Amino acid sequence: MPNQSQTPPAQAPNEVTTPHTAKNFAVRIMPSERQFEATSDDTLLAAAEQAGIALPSSCRNGTCRTCISKLIAGTVAYSIEWPGVSLEEKQEGYILPCVAKATSDVVVEQAQASELWAG
Ligand code: FES
Repeated sequence: MPNQSQTPPAQAPNEVTTPHTAKNFAVRIMPSERQFEATSDDTLLAAAEQAGIALPSSCRNGTCRTCISKLIAGTVAYSIEWPGVSLEEKQEGYILPCVAKATSDVVVEQAQASELWAG
């Protein structure tokens, strides 16, 4: 009988990929105590705007530093490799909300936060 070695197919025909599910985190802006939810897929700036909260911004790509804020509690991850904050600033807790995504509940200090739709 010939040797019939069988190699498994590279991908099973019925393989199911797990859909990506974003996590929700609570964001609190100090000192105004404004609160909203951000998903792990949204930048803090985008999530704030979706909740009707304006944070300072300009370039929205992590270079101009207009949005620089201080992370008081929690953790973030960046959507770009080299956000425009120095190592010292990072160590002091400064973040750029236009490219930072929550990876836990966070508290952010940004005194210039305001309502987007103030009447
Ligand atoms: S808006 Fe320019 S660095 Fe965030």
